Amino acid sequence: MVHMRILAIETSCDETALSLLDASGGFGNPKFKILGNVVASQVDLHTKYGGVFPMMAKREHVKNIFPLFVEMLKSAKAFTPAKNPKPWSKKIVGIIEELLAREADLVDICLNQLPSIKKPNIDAIAVTYGPGLEPALWVGLNFAKVLSLVWDIPLVPVNHMEGHILSILLQKKGKSYTTPKLAFPSLALLISGGHTELVLVQNWMKYKMIGQTRDDAVGEAFDKVARMLELPYPGGPQISKLAEELRAGVKESANNFSGPRKQSPDHEKSLAHSFTFPRPMIHSKDFDFSFSGLKTSVLYLIRDLKKENEAMVKNGGFKKAVALEFENAVTEVLTHKTMNAMMKYKTKTLIVGGGVAANKHIREVLTTTAKTKIPKSVVYFPERDLATDNSLMIGIAGYFRFLKSKGKTKNPLKLRAEGNVAIG
Ligand code: KG4
Ligand code: ZN
Repeated sequence: MVHMRILAIETSCDETALSLLDASGGFGNPKFKILGNVVASQVDLHTKYGGVFPMMAKREHVKNIFPLFVEMLKSAKAFTPAKNPKPWSKKIVGIIEELLAREADLVDICLNQLPSIKKPNIDAIAVTYGPGLEPALWVGLNFAKVLSLVWDIPLVPVNHMEGHILSILLQKKGKSYTTPKLAFPSLALLISGGHTELVLVQNWMKYKMIGQTRDDAVGEAFDKVARMLELPYPGGPQISKLAEELRAGVKESANNFSGPRKQSPDHEKSLAHSFTFPRPMIHSKDFDFSFSGLKTSVLYLIRDLKKENEAMVKNGGFKKAVALEFENAVTEVLTHKTMNAMMKYKTKTLIVGGGVAANKHIREVLTTTAKTKIPKSVVYFPERDLATDNSLMIGIAGYFRFLKSKGKTKNPLKLRAEGNVAIG
């Protein structure tokens, strides 16, 4: 079966995401149509607490997954109430109760509400099994297991990072999407809140990890620096916004660097040049990264300046200057290593994926540098809403995994969430 309808579920971190995808064309000419797609972000909750706490994320997934599932089916016109809803057999009830022992609130829903939905027209279910926060992953995985069991639909486990790589296969064109033809080998730079990796994509589903962070992930560094600057979570977009404002020379009118007097953008620009942060491991011979030293440099700068002038570090102009220099440092390291890897592995195609791929400056610098350094190169970024976590990318990966296994999927009940699994 090359043409199929795939239900995709993603709960690896702080987004509960479900979608229904029409996939066709196989490996030779893949095509995707989005029938339904919902993403519920927990960001407001996590902003309140300054970060993602796994058990809190899990509770939110449990609360939201079923209503979102129904909403998504309805928007895909795939929701039909069952005519004569019958309770599940004793055996199925037993399995559901055991599966969802730790997600008790879902048991009631799966036993009492799910039977009233008619089995939709779905050929396979794709679900993220890792990497991610294990308590959060289990919610999506267990819900997918229940659906697979009661409706007898094959379940395809998907690696979240593979999803990020394949997210570039949906490029907006007007109101629909087109799928670019990937050339192999491609290089993937994966930059998210939990990962920073350079992966050689040798062929469909064939990966070789060539470098990764030895400590913090890029997104994590963005988030931590943002916290030091007392900016809300998630920090990436905040840092990016401040850095862009300074790049564009936008005037800070309210919160000037040295008091109420209005400062010119030039002043902020010169401030940005008054300190520099390191570019960790930029010249190391390997393709690994390290961002914790960079983060510590920011911390020390703030600590030292605070001793001199407490008000200064709270100043908008100062925050912009830090944001700009930090973003520049990160961008330089990522770009330098990525270009070296493309040259070493002779790849002309660069795929950038993960939440940090939404960053405007990183996008621009990677694109222009690749153009000048590697003739005839192509750089793919995901659409902005597909850069951060979503389930469409999981559906795409699930499609290829299903094709590769020739439809022979494992016993779904045996699948386990794996918080630290590598791509492979
Ligand atoms: O891929 P993602 O949604 O979740 C993980 O799998 O981690 O990535 C989230 C990360 C967060 O650290 C967030 O701060 C960062 O992506 N991020 C950004 C931007 N938008 C999101 N970082 C820098 N610039 C952005 N515009
Ligand atoms: Zn992610």
